[in-house]
Amino acid sequence: MSSSTFKSLTKLQGARVLVIGGTSGIGFAVAESCLEYGATVIVAGSNQDRLDKTVSRLRTAVANNPSPLILEPKDLSKLVLGKTCNLKDVPNVEANIQGLLAFATDSAAHQLDHVVFTAGDHLGLRPLSEISTSFFHESDQAASSSYTLTGGINAWRPSPNFSVYASFGLQTEGLVHGLAVDMTPVRVNCVRPGAIVTELWDGFGDAKEGMKEMYKKRTLTGTVGKPEECAESYLHMMKNSFATGTVVTCDGGQMIKAA
Ligand SMILES: NC(=O)c1ccc[n+]([C@@H]2O[C@H](COP(=O)([O-])OP(=O)(O)OC[C@H]3O[C@@H](n4cnc5c(N)ncnc54)[C@H](OP(=O)(O)O)[C@@H]3O)[C@@H](O)[C@H]2O)c1
Repeated sequence: MSSSTFKSLTKLQGARVLVIGGTSGIGFAVAESCLEYGATVIVAGSNQDRLDKTVSRLRTAVANNPSPLILEPKDLSKLVLGKTCNLKDVPNVEANIQGLLAFATDSAAHQLDHVVFTAGDHLGLRPLSEISTSFFHESDQAASSSYTLTGGINAWRPSPNFSVYASFGLQTEGLVHGLAVDMTPVRVNCVRPGAIVTELWDGFGDAKEGMKEMYKKRTLTGTVGKPEECAESYLHMMKNSFATGTVVTCDGGQMIKAA
């Protein structure tokens, strides 16, 4: 297939995309979509075993069903790469990020075109009476050098016990505005997901199915989101060269649904 005349289809062709949090959930779906559009993808997470499985899964998917948009290299080990980077290892976090960036750029031999940040843990929700300053610091996920960050509609529509996470969501949105100015001409944006059923939800245990039903009732679509639906919002941020300092909500209309 000759793709040279397709303006929209080819926007990520040959691009180099780093997905921090790409070993699971929304980030994994972003990585999969980028490969379909012919990008080279580097995924990062903190768990080596999960990382190895993800890289192998992505390489197998490409080998079995290669996108016609993939340019050279056909070598899968150059098309899908992975590296661990633990963002919670506070004393070493700077070195971990530098190591990841050195790996992702092949020691500055290849510049990154897009960086997506979806890394995050299961929400260890606690009532406000149990929140301490250490919980706040342990939970902080704001430090990042990414370009498309992840917020959440719980910053605007918090359920009970979401005080800390609601504050992170709005910090992220503020950070995006500031970085968009400071990092210009690089574009910096934020995706604000609603209820997207991912591996993160396994942390709800037996309550998971009940949570799905509850969130379905809160959306205009009557559904909960899939990672691949949310991934479209990140693709928009990567592909639209006029989008910067913006937040895109992907929530099935939960933000505006009347109670
Ligand atoms: N799913 C939702 O309903 C929803 C709604 C609103 C906002 N969000 C936010 O969206 C983001 C992605 O959510 P998701 O549902 O896709 O979660 P997920 O499926 O659990 O994926 C999280 C990713 O982050 C990585 N990660 C976790 N801790 C890390 C650490 N310390 N260092 C580096 N990487 C780390 C995980 O890899 P390892 O386990 O290997 O570290 C994994 O790749 C999160 O920030 C979440 O709070 C999600």
